[in-house]
Amino acid sequence: MDENILVTGGCGFIGSHTVIELLNAGYGVIVIDNLSNSSEKALERIEHITGKSVKFYKKDLLDEKAVDDIFAKEDISSVIHFAGLKAVGESCKIPLVYFNNNITGTLNLLKIMEKYNVKSLVFSSSATVYGKPESVPIREDFPLSVSNPYGRTKLIIEDMLRDIYSSDNSWDIALLRYFNPIGAHKSGEIGESPNGIPNNLLPYVAKVAAGELEAVNVFGNDYDTPDGTGVRDYIHVVDLAEGHIKALEKLSSHPGLVTYNLGTGKGYSVLEIIKNFEKACGKKIPYNITERRPGDIDMCYADPKKAKEELGWEAKRDIDQMCEDAWRWQSKNPKGLINNF
Ligand code: NAD
Ligand code: UD1
Repeated sequence: MDENILVTGGCGFIGSHTVIELLNAGYGVIVIDNLSNSSEKALERIEHITGKSVKFYKKDLLDEKAVDDIFAKEDISSVIHFAGLKAVGESCKIPLVYFNNNITGTLNLLKIMEKYNVKSLVFSSSATVYGKPESVPIREDFPLSVSNPYGRTKLIIEDMLRDIYSSDNSWDIALLRYFNPIGAHKSGEIGESPNGIPNNLLPYVAKVAAGELEAVNVFGNDYDTPDGTGVRDYIHVVDLAEGHIKALEKLSSHPGLVTYNLGTGKGYSVLEIIKNFEKACGKKIPYNITERRPGDIDMCYADPKKAKEELGWEAKRDIDQMCEDAWRWQSKNPKGLINNF
């Protein structure tokens, strides 16, 4: 295949796994990343896993001239746009940084794509755009709302893309709403490297299993769920990465603007995740029940039917594999790749 895909944020967790799947599918890959939450080492690992090379630009999407230069030089057919800041708690403390990085960065990218007539885009959205859903499973046509600055950046960018498409229907855009990506590549060479103490459940559980943190704080056991703890749709990051290849294939048939949930359709509670992780690592994982985390909801899981019918994609890897792969990555790379914890 002689198509080149520009991957923004390609050194990050989901980006790096997607780059592997792109290379395996025969695409050429150009990565732009400012390494604000990742390491260039991810690309060395990717080249080692795939035996293929990736063109890398250490650049910031806020640097419009740098992005323009890349489009002037490279022959790009589509863009997969992962680059963004993603920590909900941090976004409440420094919203302007989030608005600037995520929204201005995307705006720069879109202006340059339009200038160079590259009008094929896959965008990383999130299940966070459904806010507190009235029921589960969640379908793509459910109402949208957000409750924190991070989520607002996702919804604003989705709205921007819907407006751009209405004004010019020669764009092809896939809005992919991810549920809770976890796990790692089966090689154990790439995975999630959260900055500092993890906010998300899985990396936190992995660090407790590794003995780096004492116990998991289970945020509330009085939710309206079977065991009282929060239920989420955890999806293996490699399944998610494969969904991006299917989305690109879809875009090549010029569907216009399309929106898909990428989830498994199954929900697991916090206590079930802890039990599954204990099985994967062969150790007891201590936990304490604590207060609810503000903003958390009882249950969130996808109706994945639309992606199955229209993309021919569905998640294949089960919760055991997610926990085993996350544990392999954690054991082989206790300090992650950024070396900051
Ligand atoms: P990540 O932090 O691992 O990856 C994001 C990458 O973007 C990092 O490598 C970072 O250095 C880079 N980046 C950030 N701002 C940049 C900028 N201005 N210019 C260039 N590079 C920049 O995050 P991830 O988990 O891989 O998430 C990827 C995308 O998916 C994000 O947009 C995120 O909001 C979205 N998403 C993630 C999750 C999740 O749970 N991980 C869920 C839903 C949606
Ligand atoms: C979080 C983000 C959401 C983002 C999603 C994807 C918040 C409020 N929401 O969702 O915007 O799209 O990640 O990555 O941060 N839990 C514990 N103890 C912990 C950590 C989490 O009990 O130490 C519980 C939570 O209450 C929740 C579940 O585990 O029930 C999953 O939490 P988390 O991994 O943070 O993901 P979400 O809250 O679903």
